[in-house]
Amino acid sequence: MRRVTSDEPVTVSFELNGRPVRGRATARTLLTDFLRKELGATGTHVGCEHGVCGACTVRIDGVAERGCLTLAVQVDGRRVDTVEGLADRRDALTALQRAFRRHHALQCGYCTPGILMSFADFLSRTPDPDDAALREVLGGHICRCTGYAGLMKALKEAAAEMRGEVPETPEATR
Ligand code: FES
Ligand code: FES
Repeated sequence: MRRVTSDEPVTVSFELNGRPVRGRATARTLLTDFLRKELGATGTHVGCEHGVCGACTVRIDGVAERGCLTLAVQVDGRRVDTVEGLADRRDALTALQRAFRRHHALQCGYCTPGILMSFADFLSRTPDPDDAALREVLGGHICRCTGYAGLMKALKEAAAEMRGEVPETPEATR
C-alpha cells in the first residue's frame, strides 16, 4: 500500500466564480496560496495570515470565510467566490462596488476585496442592517487608509440600493 504524506500533492477541484477549476495542492496548502499561485486569482489578498485582518475573505458555498484559515483541500467539490466574480462585466459593478466608488471607500485597496466579499454575504442575509450590525462585521477587517467613515456610508447606501431604494448620492464617475 502506497504511503501518502502531507507533502504529497493531490488534485483539488471546485467551482470558482461559477467555473470549474482544478489544481494540485498538498494537505497543508492554504486556500489563499492555491487561489493566487496555482490558479492566478490574485484578487484575494493576504495580510496577516492569522485570521485577523480579513484581507483574504472569500465566500465558500456563499458564506464569508478566511482564506488564510482554510486549506485548499477543504474546498474540494464546493463553490468558492472571490472578488473577481462579483461584477460580471467591467461596466456592471454590483451595488456594493458602486457605493464604494461613490463614497471613496477605498484608497490603497488592499483591504477592499475582503470587505466586499464579507458584505456581499452579510447583506444577502441581512437586507436592513443597523449601524451596530454593520460595525460588527466591519470589525472583522483592518483598513489602514480610510478611517472607516466612507466605508460605513458605502455599506449603508449599498444596503438601501439592494432593498430597491434610490441611492442618496449620484454616481461620482461613470
Ligand atoms: S490574511 Fe487572512 S485574515 Fe489576514
Ligand atoms: S484602503 Fe488601504 S487598507 Fe483599506
